[in-house]
Amino acid sequence: MVPAVNQVELHPFLQQAEVRRYDAEHGIATEAWSPLAKGGELLSEPVVADLARKHGRTPAQVVLRWHLQLGNVVIPKSVTPSRIRENLDVFGFTLDEADLTTLAALDRGERTGPDPDTFNVA
Ligand SMILES: NC(=O)c1ccc[n+]([C@@H]2O[C@H](COP(=O)([O-])OP(=O)(O)OC[C@H]3O[C@@H](n4cnc5c(N)ncnc54)[C@H](OP(=O)(O)O)[C@@H]3O)[C@@H](O)[C@H]2O)c1
Repeated sequence: MVPAVNQVELHPFLQQAEVRRYDAEHGIATEAWSPLAKGGELLSEPVVADLARKHGRTPAQVVLRWHLQLGNVVIPKSVTPSRIRENLDVFGFTLDEADLTTLAALDRGERTGPDPDTFNVA
């Protein structure tokens, strides 16, 4: 039995290349848990801010667009109506190869949540 979806913590600080490759090879959709890294430091990261300025978008939109272009299922959380609208408005621009290379360099294996390898292990 192959699962349809694998939801793992996934954002530019934790890019999960190996998991995404495995999922793709097995026809499993990869869904991002905490796609905005909980809206913290990632959204004030200078590289992300530069790309936001370049595209006339917000840092959150750049990160969400990055997820979509990688093929991730992405469901950001917000209780703020203006942010919910902003987070939906990510289909009118495209990150180019240089942008994607820049964002790839942000990967630092940093989790905001528990590590499934050690979670609840006595
Ligand atoms: N499978 C499950 O059962 C389950 C259950 C619970 C959660 N989850 C996962 O948990 C995640 C929930 O959220 P999370 O907090 O961990 O991560 P997140 O979606 O990465 O970040 C949410 C945070 O970012 C802020 N934010 C949202 N849009 C923003 C924007 N455009 N600009 C600036 N800040 C923005 C939100 O603030 P405001 O809300 O104040 O606007 C909130 O503090 C979801 O991605 C979901 O996949 C899964």
